Formats: sequence, C-alpha cells, structure tokens
Amino acid sequence: MPCAGRCDEPIPVIRGDQVLIGTDANDLESRPSPVPSPNPQGREECVFRHIREPDRSTIEGYRRTGGYDGLTLAVSELNPAQVIDIVRDSGLAGRGGAGFPTGVKWQAVADASGAPKTIVCNADEGEPGCFKDRAIMDHDPHAVIEGMALAAYATGAPRGFIYLRYEYPETLGTLQRAIKEAEEAGLLGERILGSAFDFTVVVRRGAGAYICGEEGSLLNSLEGRHPFPRNRPPFPVTHGYEDRPTVVNNVETLASVPHIVRRGADWYRALGLNDLAGTKVISLSGDVKRPGNYEVPLGLPLSTLLYDWAGGTGSSRSVQAVTMAGVSGGFLAGEDLDVTLDEPSIRAKGSFLGAGGIMVFDDTRDMVEIAHFAMEFFAEESCGKCFPCRIGTERLTERLAGTAGPTNLTAWLDEVNDIGRTMKAISACGLGMAAPLITESLLRYFPERVAQHVAHQARD
Ligand SMILES: Cc1cc2nc3c(=O)[nH]c(=O)nc-3n(C[C@H](O)[C@H](O)[C@H](O)COP(=O)(O)O)c2cc1C
Repeated sequence: MPCAGRCDEPIPVIRGDQVLIGTDANDLESRPSPVPSPNPQGREECVFRHIREPDRSTIEGYRRTGGYDGLTLAVSELNPAQVIDIVRDSGLAGRGGAGFPTGVKWQAVADASGAPKTIVCNADEGEPGCFKDRAIMDHDPHAVIEGMALAAYATGAPRGFIYLRYEYPETLGTLQRAIKEAEEAGLLGERILGSAFDFTVVVRRGAGAYICGEEGSLLNSLEGRHPFPRNRPPFPVTHGYEDRPTVVNNVETLASVPHIVRRGADWYRALGLNDLAGTKVISLSGDVKRPGNYEVPLGLPLSTLLYDWAGGTGSSRSVQAVTMAGVSGGFLAGEDLDVTLDEPSIRAKGSFLGAGGIMVFDDTRDMVEIAHFAMEFFAEESCGKCFPCRIGTERLTERLAGTAGPTNLTAWLDEVNDIGRTMKAISACGLGMAAPLITESLLRYFPERVAQHVAHQARD
C-alpha cells in the first residue's frame, strides 16, 4: 500500500514496552557526530577536503571554498553527457557496498525511457561499524545536495529523495536546513541558476531496519510498501522509484561528485595508489587508539591505517582480527591482515571492502563470541522474504551460541559450511549472501577456537 500520510514526519518506534514518538524517539542517537581528523601523512583528500572548515554546513561556508562551482560549471558550460563522461572517466565506483561504477549507472538512467526520473541518496547507513555517511551529512550537507543535483542534471531527473536512517534525527534538521538554503539561493527548485534545469529534493526518514538500505527494499519503503528486496532484473536504473528510471547512490559517492566535476577526472583518479582510482572513507572502530572516519587513498596498506594513522590497539595487546565492510565482509586475520585497502586486494582474501567499516579486535577477544554477535545481528535484521536467509541466519546463530547442531566437530563443520553455501547461492539479496562470510572466515582463521567451542557446547 502506498503511504497514506506524510512520510517525512517522525515514525513511532518501539523500545521494550515503550512506544516513543516525536522528540522522545528523536533523542535516540542525538550525540553530535565528530568532525573527521586529518590524516597524519597529509594525503590529499576528496570528500573530507574541506569538511573541517568553519561553517562548512552552511551555504556561505560551503561556497567559500568553491561549493556549487561544479553545478554552476555543469549547468552553464557542460551538457549532461559531458558530466557523465567526467564521472565515468574518474573511475568513481559506488561507496555504499557493491562498488558499481557510478558513471555507468548514470548513463543507464540517462539512456532509459520513462519519466519522471529520480535521484535517491541512500543515507540509511545501517551496517554495524559504519558511521561515515552521518559525518558527511552532518558537516558537509551541501556536498551531498550538490552531488544529487549533478546526478539529476546528468540523467534528466527532476526529483530527488534523501532516504535518511531513522536513528539520525539531528542529521534530519541539518539536511532540511541545507535544502532550504539551496532553494533560497536558486540552486534547487525551478530554473536552477537561470537555466531550464529543475530539481527538487525531499528528505524521507527510513523505516528503522538494516534491510531498508538494500536498494530494492529502500525503493519499496520509499513508496510506502513493506521493505522487502525486489527481484532483479529489472534494476532500478530502468525500474526504480514508481517503476521509473532511478539512480540510487550512497552519500559518500554523491559527495565525491562535486569535487570531481570541479577538479576533473584525472585529478580524482590520481588520488589512489598503485593505479587504483580515488579514495574511500573508512570508519574505524573497536580496539584501536584513535577510532574515527579516515579518508584513505585506495591501495593504502591496512597496516598503515591501523598503526601509523590510528595508533594501533593503544595497549600492549596485538591485533587479532578485523572485520571488513562493517560486518558483511567477515573477518581478516593472521597473514591476511597484510592487504591493501581496495576491492581487488581484499576480495582476493575472500572478503570485500564494501561501505568501508573496519572493526578491530585485539587478542583478548573471543572470536566465536564476536561471530555470534554478528550473526545474531543478521538473524534479527533478516527481512524474512527468502528462506535461505531467514532460516540460515537463525541456524548459524544457534550453532555459534552452541545451543543447537551437531556436537561432533566434522558434522558441525559440514553443517555450518552447507548452510553457508546454500545462503550464498540462493538468498534474495546481499544480506543473506554476505552473512556466511562471518562463519567462513571464523573457520578459516580460528579453527582451534571453533573446535574448542564445539567440544564445550553448553546444552540443557
Ligand atoms: C542488506 C543491505 C544493506 C545495505 N545498506 C546500505 C546502506 O545503508 N547505504 C548504502 O548506500 N548502501 C547500502 N546497501 C547497498 C545498496 O543496495 C546499493 O548498492 C547502494 O546504495 C548503491 O549506491 P552506490 O552505487 O553509490 O554504492 C545495502 C545493501 C544490502 C544488501
């Protein structure tokens, strides 16, 4: 059913036996998001380039360092195809998880028939250990809006939505203020900068579930439907919001675009190391001395980030393991910590960089317990549409808790591997496909701890 009421109003939320509405619900995560620290090596940045400057979240502060110059350039001197060429040539790829090339996505929407087209900024940020999009929106909201406007100009879309994680109430106010400022300055709305280009942006609060960040679920939620993933194909580029051509891009992806259009594709490409294009924001947390958001050149060794930038564990303990892609990429440990931060290097180890959340665990941590927490999260957040994910995440959680499954190690391993293989092969979306990376990597790096766990399962 389409949403009957106003979808930008507060959504009641249930916590224990309380139903919180409005201000109470909005207080859930109302701590201010820290400004990202500069990196100690003085590496050139893209998205964080100006984020620490005073008043950056206001339109005056944003314009002081060239904000909206990319949009002005595009509207006055470039045709839409030229904007797409710049984005494609820059090598920018999606920063929300899947890493799809942004210029290729925009080209597909520009080429698709059907109107009106739509730009959706995916600001749901539900992945555990990811908090970069919040920092970008809190401190540089106009970069997101300008990126959306450039996407709209390039693809011919007159309308846009920011689908904002429900638990970011302060960010909602920041975005709404920024949109109003942009409208008043003639940078959003009708006849932008005196041209024939019209584009409006509305913020919609998310429905408060991890699955809402998956693009098909997001589009269903935006339409007021239950947030189940959609079957693909068709893809959102041809059948997205209201079944019409739609760009769905992550906050970081969109916030990169104004810098790229202003400075050029070659400038962005050159930011990466070893022939890799551009940068990625990493949210670093856990047993680490200086946690936070760091914008790294793609190709930077993980060890440089962990030790030189973030100060190591900050104790006498050593790093036992890290997660990748929040928790969706499972763990890296041992010799595999010797990776560089880019998809080819991390995928070669059976994981992926994804949205760039990395959690660090020192050698005091029980990795079976950590794996159990992660799987419990997936089981809790599985939307239930497809059975491999709905049942598989529950069965793996039980086995990691030691409350069900074989007590013989060989049988236990066979069963856990079999469940994981099935989930990866036939789950309907990335949630069910990624969750088994937790057990896969646990078995790969910590076989002795797993054997101990199976031998000592607590049963009634
Ligand atoms: C379970 C699940 C959750 C996701 N959550 C998010 C999210 O919170 N934010 C996001 O940008 N992408 C998320 N994604 C990825 C989106 O489906 C989509 O690939 C992305 O928004 C596309 O934008 P990009 O090309 O700029 O990365 C999620 C995917 C899955 C499978």
